[in-house]
Amino acid sequence: MNDSFTFKLEEPPTVSLRPSRFADFLGQTRVLEKLRIMASAAQQRKEPLNHILLSGPPGLGKTTLAMVLAEEMHANIRVTSGPAIEKAGDLAGMLTGLEYGDILFIDEIHRLSKTIEEYLYAAMEDFRIDVMIDQGPNARSIRLDIPKFTLIGATTRTGLLTAPLRSRFTLQTRLDYYGEGDLSKIIERNAKILKISIEGEAAAEIARRSRGTPRIANNLLFFVRDFSQQDSSGITLAHAKEALQLLDIDEHGLDEMDKRILEVIGQNYGGGPVGANTIAIAIGEERQTLEEVHEPFLIQEGYLQRTPQGRILTSKAWQLLGIDRGERNFF
Ligand SMILES: Nc1ncnc2c1ncn2[C@@H]1O[C@H](COP(=O)(O)OP(=O)(O)OP(=O)(O)O)[C@@H](O)[C@H]1O
Ligand SMILES: [Mg+2]
Repeated sequence: MNDSFTFKLEEPPTVSLRPSRFADFLGQTRVLEKLRIMASAAQQRKEPLNHILLSGPPGLGKTTLAMVLAEEMHANIRVTSGPAIEKAGDLAGMLTGLEYGDILFIDEIHRLSKTIEEYLYAAMEDFRIDVMIDQGPNARSIRLDIPKFTLIGATTRTGLLTAPLRSRFTLQTRLDYYGEGDLSKIIERNAKILKISIEGEAAAEIARRSRGTPRIANNLLFFVRDFSQQDSSGITLAHAKEALQLLDIDEHGLDEMDKRILEVIGQNYGGGPVGANTIAIAIGEERQTLEEVHEPFLIQEGYLQRTPQGRILTSKAWQLLGIDRGERNFF
């Protein structure tokens, strides 16, 4: 008999860390200001919102903002994603099932196929869709009317969206990495929701190492909470530091993979320029993950430069790697 396995899982009350109203959504003030203006004007006119495109790196709150907009507009929201819409029929089914004022949220909208994209143009602009039925000599198209709806698109890669699709969004707005102050507030708010006490300095320490990303901040908070659980005084600065060290996240917020990328470029390719494909193979990651997840942060923090010839390390990166280039070149 194995009686070491004595704990019992209990279903916890569901708590959501996702803010559901504008007022709870911290940071991104410029984006929020534009969305608030659009939402309140549309409400005043008693009309659906215009189409909105949200872009930016993963985990900054695109999905959350779409939910917030639905809540503020008292609208239903249907959620789907680019790769999930394979056939024109899928899209037609979804669009004709909408009601006036509904929000359709398409995540990863840059991954829609060309054909689907073209169907979407007419739906966004004229609220109709022409679908082909039958094949061969019997082929004909029928026009379906769609109730006026709002499309909210989310993408990590605005550059991959075709110009005609992009231009059909009334507002195209980009989320940027959060500052430490905003992340600190998010962490303190979430700790309160989770009913754990946290020192202000501990929240700031977690914030500093969250790569400007609320999703990472939440994950780190969960780990630090587990780490400090035995201590009734809650999360202290010492806990946060020790727990984050266990996760190999340094004081700049760089994780193992970030450091490997910099090391590979520095040690194997003399600091660059080196192409993204080569780096991706060297670190054993998908090129897409490299470009969407790791590089934006490294570039924003000034460790890496993107040039037409390839990626180049900056002097800040050399410093971090502890390599003095002057000396190195000397030998
Ligand atoms: N401004 C914010 N305030 C508080 N929490 C936030 C905020 N933005 C995001 N979050 C938290 O971060 C998590 C990730 O956000 P979300 O899922 O909206 O990111 P996303 O941009 O859609 O990412 P992806 O591109 O990976 O889909 C959410 O669960 C939410 O709890
Ligand atoms: Mg999302």
